Amino acid sequence: MALLEAIGISKSFLFHKQWVKVLADLAFEISEGEFVSIIGSSGCGKSTLLELFAGITAPDSGSIILAGEEITGRSGLLGYMPQEDLLFPWLSTRQNALLPAKIKHHDLKQAKAKIEDLLPVFGLEKHADLLPYQLSGGLKQRVALLRTYMIGSRLLLLDEPFASLDALTRMQMQDWLQEIQSRLKLTIILVTHDIREALRLSDRIELMEKNPGRFVQSYKLEPEIKDQPSSMDSLLQEILSKF
Ligand SMILES: Nc1ncnc2c1ncn2[C@@H]1O[C@H](COP(=O)(O)OP(=O)(O)OP(=O)(O)O)[C@@H](O)[C@H]1O
Ligand SMILES: [Mg+2]
Repeated sequence: MALLEAIGISKSFLFHKQWVKVLADLAFEISEGEFVSIIGSSGCGKSTLLELFAGITAPDSGSIILAGEEITGRSGLLGYMPQEDLLFPWLSTRQNALLPAKIKHHDLKQAKAKIEDLLPVFGLEKHADLLPYQLSGGLKQRVALLRTYMIGSRLLLLDEPFASLDALTRMQMQDWLQEIQSRLKLTIILVTHDIREALRLSDRIELMEKNPGRFVQSYKLEPEIKDQPSSMDSLLQEILSKF
């Protein structure tokens, strides 16, 4: 059974007094433990889709189903990390990480203990009392991911989490994300513009086209393919040719 499923999702936005269909009759599913990347040109509706999953907005039609239960339009159930960095500049790493528990009125003592356990997992034990401006880009993204994880879901929706990082830091963060995925048994939907990143990390890549946004091609990445540089290279060329 799919852990998360989208069925017949449509969404329009008002643009210059006209309704524009951004997503049309879109379907998607992800199984527990899977890592799926969503790629597609700018404006095809990737962020809109994650917002729909996260319940930030509701679709015009269609349903979103989590572990068999309809959650359409309900927020706070999945670990959603938006495209912009939304760390509060006046809060330390610890305080930023505690925010989801505060918002959800969870037991703060328990949440604080959980954060102490997670700080080393996220490589932040030396940065726990620093403010965001004192952290490098990679560290800030770790704090944002820790805070996302503290929402309490093992299903993470990550919208271009490494876009602002330099190439080396980005690769280190990709390795690290893979490590915490297996350590914390995460299911991940990653939106990225970086096809190499998608190839490196994913079990499956879903390609979107725009006007209206819909999935047009799915690439399953079996572990055997990942070990063959020539297969990966031809897949990269194939995906690039579709853009
Ligand atoms: N709240 C909104 N109101 C009006 N139009 C919107 C809104 N949100 C998104 N759009 C429009 O919907 C389309 C899809 O936007 P979205 O942000 O989902 O694209 P994207 O694939 O994430 O693009 P990018 O790769 O640049 O982040 C765009 O044309 C955008 O202008
Ligand atoms: Mg986007």
